Amino acid sequence: MQVNPDDPICLCFHVTRRKVINFIRVEKPKRPSQLSQCFGAGTGCGWCRAYLERLLHEQLAENADNSLIPSAEMTYQEYKRARTDYVLKGGGKPPAGAIPIDVESDEAPK
Ligand code: FES
Repeated sequence: MQVNPDDPICLCFHVTRRKVINFIRVEKPKRPSQLSQCFGAGTGCGWCRAYLERLLHEQLAENADNSLIPSAEMTYQEYKRARTDYVLKGGGKPPAGAIPIDVESDEAPK
């Protein structure tokens, strides 16, 4: 049975599942450690950190634009094209020295 929305996940700081899910939806944290900004969740004994991390990943997957999630069955070309779409849609900026988003190659980098 799943934890109810109003049950506290972080028992140290009484942070409910609902509060964490709303925090993820509104603040869009990228790392589990950012959930500590939700009423201090996870900053006490540490018991709930694994649960918080799992909840973050579940919520991000649920809220994600699934068309941008690469499939394990993609070819390298499809994978690169999907990354180009991701970058062009504002998903992130490749660092200097990264494979450019417009490179067309059939071979994986060595
Ligand atoms: S239960 Fe969340 S930090 Fe202790």
